[in-house]
Amino acid sequence: MQKVIEDIDILANDSAQHEACETVKVSEDENTGKERKLYIESYGCQMNFSDSEIVSSIMKKEGFDTTSNFNEADVILLNTCSIREKAEQTVRARLSQFNTVKKQRPEMMIGVLGCMAERLKSQLLEEEKVVDLVVGPDAYRDLPGLVKQVDEGQKAVNTFLSREETYADISPVRLNSNGVTAFISIMRGCDNMCSFCVVPLTRGRERSRDPYSIVNEAQELFNNGYKEVTLLGQNVDSYKWSPEVNNKARLEKSGVSEVITFANLLEMVAKVHPDLRVRFSTSHPKDITDEVLHTMKKYENICNYIHLPAQSGNTRVLDIMNRTYTREWYIDRVDAIRKIIGQECGISSDMISGFCTETEEEHQDTLTLMDYVKYDFSYMFFYSERPGTLAAKKFKDDIPLEVKKRRLSEIIERQQKHSHERNQKDVGKVHKVLIEGFSKRSNDDLQGRNSANKVVIFPKKHYQKGQYVNVLVDRCTPATLFGNIVD
Ligand code: SAH
Ligand code: SF4
Ligand code: F3S
Repeated sequence: MQKVIEDIDILANDSAQHEACETVKVSEDENTGKERKLYIESYGCQMNFSDSEIVSSIMKKEGFDTTSNFNEADVILLNTCSIREKAEQTVRARLSQFNTVKKQRPEMMIGVLGCMAERLKSQLLEEEKVVDLVVGPDAYRDLPGLVKQVDEGQKAVNTFLSREETYADISPVRLNSNGVTAFISIMRGCDNMCSFCVVPLTRGRERSRDPYSIVNEAQELFNNGYKEVTLLGQNVDSYKWSPEVNNKARLEKSGVSEVITFANLLEMVAKVHPDLRVRFSTSHPKDITDEVLHTMKKYENICNYIHLPAQSGNTRVLDIMNRTYTREWYIDRVDAIRKIIGQECGISSDMISGFCTETEEEHQDTLTLMDYVKYDFSYMFFYSERPGTLAAKKFKDDIPLEVKKRRLSEIIERQQKHSHERNQKDVGKVHKVLIEGFSKRSNDDLQGRNSANKVVIFPKKHYQKGQYVNVLVDRCTPATLFGNIVD
């Protein structure tokens, strides 16, 4: 089973832009002569990685340089994830390692941010003695004050959730950046109540960020040499911004009164520059509209790729998951994507095996849905009960672990087959690829992604990251396409 878990990580790492993979990101060395050093380690989804960039920006103003070495840090921050039990266990194991470090350097400050901080609040201080600081996702502006409180010898907690906070005015400090691709957070929180999911509890109510600040951030990135932005939200299709609701002052100033939908926002960002690729994640099957698909079709620089998590292929299971769509509705959305954008549009999914009461037949429905869609790739998990969620309150977590894992391995095996089939269809074709850097295995090769988000590897020649090239693909594995640049 270990092998299976490693496979999930391989798929997740290769696409490098997805939510909910068990990867860690660490801050880099920065020496601008500031007084103190901050080490920040981020777990969980892209939203968390993006928040760490906001946190770094706030801390920079407070006199901190970032470092990649926690041994030289004055402050260590862990930006945590609660999505599955394993994610929390990883953080707890890390905290006990830091316990040893702190014994040698008691003055070192240790803080927990993000979803685990929000879920456990001050309970974390009791359970993990090494922690000085607990800050939830909507309270990062309060960090300077909280750090000061710890400096003065107290413990500090702020886990208030906000209905308005979007950090719209904070320019993120780009961490772990390749200088080519970047993420822009367009909304926060989630108003859906998927019964398995802890996110509404840890991230609070959904709110959309001012579209003009999003466009400005995209423009600034482009001016700084970036060639791709990914717009991030738990459910981007429900993005909605109306000046009346969100900012009366702006309405009075500009006279703008229309409501801006996700399709409108996509178009606004696509117009920043034809050489700036636009991606987005995550789309919700209940909310994705034909208007969004037509907007994708209209702009060449909006990538042909949609992450459309199904979670299950069975209508009864979807119902108790509270996903608010049926198998048929989901299939209709996939058909719409194929019809409006085309067969080559990349589609990926998230799947959960062994949700409460799931029968073998219902599990088979997930496999047959996969056969119908033939996803390019998927993130696949077995159900992990989360305290406080609707499912934890209402249903018994009654599928034995071995059954969950066996069903998961069947899902993974099916996905591997489909990924290979879908990649084979790309062989013999020329793909426009944005170069992101050297391939992981060799400095003689470059790697980038095509519009459908597939990783493509090819000999370097005289090309460099940030350039668009046409690559003739001549072979593939289930995870990667290989080829040569055609000049
Ligand atoms: N907003 C996104 C997903 C956020 S969480 C969406 O609506 O699809 C990322 C993925 O983690 C989910 O899609 C789901 O597949 C998985 N996940 C969430 N809660 C889980 C749980 N309790 N057990 C196992 N997997 C879970
Ligand atoms: Fe969780 Fe559902 Fe919201 Fe996604 S849409 S974050 S799965 S509650
Ligand atoms: Fe993301 Fe994990 Fe929170 S997936 S929203 S960091 S629970």
